[in-house]
Amino acid sequence: MADSSGKFGSAEFVVIANRLPVDRVVAPDGSTTWRTSPGGLVTALEPVMRRKGGAWIGWHGAPDEKLRPFTHQGLKLVPVHLSESEVVEYYEGFSNGTLWPLYHDVIAPPAFHREWWDAYVTVNRRFAERAAKVAAEGAIVWVQDYQLQLVPAMLRELRPDVRIGFFLHIPFPPTELFQQLPWRREILEGLLGADLVGFQLNGAAGNFIRLVRQRVGHKTHRDAVYLPDGRVVRANAYPISIDAAGFEEMARDPAVVARAAEIRESLGNPRTIVLGIDRLDYTKGLRQRIRAFGELITEGAVHPDDAVFVQVATPSRERVDQYRMLRDEIDRLVGRLNGDVGRIGQPPITYLHASYPREEMAALYRAADVMVVTPLRDGMNLVAKEYVACRYDDRGSLVLSEFAGAAGELKQAYLVNPYDINGMKQAMLDAIKAGPKEQARRMKALRKQVMENDIDQWANDFLSELAPATHTKRTRPSREQ
Ligand code: F6P
Repeated sequence: MADSSGKFGSAEFVVIANRLPVDRVVAPDGSTTWRTSPGGLVTALEPVMRRKGGAWIGWHGAPDEKLRPFTHQGLKLVPVHLSESEVVEYYEGFSNGTLWPLYHDVIAPPAFHREWWDAYVTVNRRFAERAAKVAAEGAIVWVQDYQLQLVPAMLRELRPDVRIGFFLHIPFPPTELFQQLPWRREILEGLLGADLVGFQLNGAAGNFIRLVRQRVGHKTHRDAVYLPDGRVVRANAYPISIDAAGFEEMARDPAVVARAAEIRESLGNPRTIVLGIDRLDYTKGLRQRIRAFGELITEGAVHPDDAVFVQVATPSRERVDQYRMLRDEIDRLVGRLNGDVGRIGQPPITYLHASYPREEMAALYRAADVMVVTPLRDGMNLVAKEYVACRYDDRGSLVLSEFAGAAGELKQAYLVNPYDINGMKQAMLDAIKAGPKEQARRMKALRKQVMENDIDQWANDFLSELAPATHTKRTRPSREQ
């Protein structure tokens, strides 16, 4: 992708994320296929890239494989390789064993290892070098998420001509927690390589500005950081969203509607289906949610003939100890409840440890009367927005944690503190019992918020702040479908 002089690449718009939107999967017979990567980042950014074009730089999900840039379903993808030891130390280690728990309220204890940090620096440099080759002169380069916080400064050193944006998809911790990080200053300086640093919420942007002032000593005023070389870095909140119209369209598809009816049928056509869909992650509050539903059943507040709970847990970071332990714990909890109160062909919880295509998710959203999204801490949580986008019938209820970023926007949900099991039981019960009028009242308001603040709006807000002259025109989703 370099130009004829070999100096610059040709991509005017570049996204850099830890993962490409697709993972390379090698079957036992050696054949390879591509599978949509897990997580909200891909769901959100894929439609943006489809509309804007440009190149997406990322890891393709398998170790020790060097692949050439290629086009997949219209997207230009530039793979970055990771060795097996880099997967262990940079991805599973520093990204998901140090930063992930530290940035999520230390729900699990973060581990600090110097060799993990060294791998993080090495891999961040590789991503920055790849971006420096791919980006056209004066290009816009948008770096994503906590795995790549050093890339902005590294890229600026290599390519001072490009405009650099950074967006953090997960929470940014308060100063008291961030200060535990032995490499706190390096991370802050890495982020300050960007022209614009975006967060999900105002509080996170405030935490960043405060830390930069306290730890790096730069002058700050409101959302601006003044660097000694005269550069100004801005930090603001841009709550991420989804392709809301796309999800609604999918939910209206007759095949999806039929599949939703089939799901209800195979669950025995209960009065209420309660649904949870999450990556299997200790931040998601799965344990608390299952306990709350279990107690409602065992105490008789909800009869197992009337309500079933479907929990989809997408496999995630399976070699990291805390994730292995969580899986065992959830298996045990579900097994105990089903063993205690289930009857033949009627388990109160249907637990699926699997990842499904988006159409199947849309069918599940359509089938569910109550959606429970109860993370202990979450940057945004796009599942909550997907559920709302799919409920064009103005039916269904959303139970949502106060500690999900989405709670700031989805105020008409049944908001809960997931640490308060009794409070959560009451909210689930209220949601289960809500009549059609109450459901419609809340859902209409939720839908207004989600349909009007979609992913195009998010991308345009960020990009027009990053590079005012070049931002794309907003493509309003069509709502008459
Ligand atoms: O949103 C947080 C995030 O870590 C994304 O960066 C990532 O795409 C997603 O969750 C899934 O995580 P992983 O790539 O580790 O499976």
